[in-house]
Amino acid sequence: LFSLLAVMMVFLSGCGEDYLSTLKPSGEVGKQQLNLLLLTTVIMTLVVVIVSVIYLLAFLKYRRSRVGENVIPKQVEGSHTLEVIWTVIPIILLLIIAVPVVTTTYKFADVAAMDEVDEEGNKTALTINVTAKLYWWEFEYPNQGIITAQELVVPTGEKVYFNLKAADVKHSFWIPAVGGKMDTNVENLNKFYLVFDKESKDLKDGVFYGKCAELCGPSHALMDFKVKALSPDAFDAWVDAMKATEGQTADKASSDLGEATFANSCLGCHAISGSGAGGTPGPNLTTFGDRNRVAGFLEHNEENLKAWIKNPEEFKPGNLMMNADGTAPIYGNLSDEEIEALATYIMGLSVEK
Ligand code: CUA
Repeated sequence: LFSLLAVMMVFLSGCGEDYLSTLKPSGEVGKQQLNLLLLTTVIMTLVVVIVSVIYLLAFLKYRRSRVGENVIPKQVEGSHTLEVIWTVIPIILLLIIAVPVVTTTYKFADVAAMDEVDEEGNKTALTINVTAKLYWWEFEYPNQGIITAQELVVPTGEKVYFNLKAADVKHSFWIPAVGGKMDTNVENLNKFYLVFDKESKDLKDGVFYGKCAELCGPSHALMDFKVKALSPDAFDAWVDAMKATEGQTADKASSDLGEATFANSCLGCHAISGSGAGGTPGPNLTTFGDRNRVAGFLEHNEENLKAWIKNPEEFKPGNLMMNADGTAPIYGNLSDEEIEALATYIMGLSVEK
């Protein structure tokens, strides 16, 4: 037992990163989830310790060398007092756990505010539609007319409501330091809210980490996303910048070849406008230059982007950029020159530069 605990402590010592750790939560939801975690852990630890001590004492007191060879200790059959004690104590402990867990669970599922409207009929709460796909995340802001992917941008200090669904198989939405996890299903919407109270240090640094928490396929472990929590003003500025991407085509740094290759090979699956142009099968790439990971988990640089475009299967087995037999990308094998230009073009897609 103690060596097991020691091993678990070693794992916990890896939870130092503020923006990943469930033990250093940000926001009301994460904090209350941690309180529940601590409450149940303390009660369960006490039960384990007390039961272990009684068990050991019984061993010592009634061991053969103490009571004598072939002597059987006094046998007790039926004790009302004992039975009442070991029935009532667990009931009390379970109630102490159950009451706060159930009330908190219902509180976080209260999404009535999602439907509230102001005098002009606009929704007042910030709602984000999350769609989990093999192996990436789409984030739609229906009231702002914005679609993005892989990086969730949220304001701090207010309830952010989520409609969660999956496009293919069951996934689970989890931002360890902020809250969740909640399943995303194909057949129904799950709804809940989160509160972010710590700003990401800047747009590249201090982002929260999001994970898929439901085994969904060979690249489940790579199905990550990032969360940028911005001050309300910075969030509004981001919304405006995203809306202004309608018709975004090229960045000055990119060449005609990059743009042309994108149009021929990528545009069928990837949109590059944050405004409305949804429904494509691949992640929306509007803000690709502003993101901090390639394919959700590789370091964000042009070399990795080129390697990814060249052979996505090598990095994320089972991803949908490959043809049916997994031998080549669906856009064919591009020349090195095309990949080079394409990577420069995609890295230039930005609303923050
Ligand atoms: Cu999606 Cu695991």
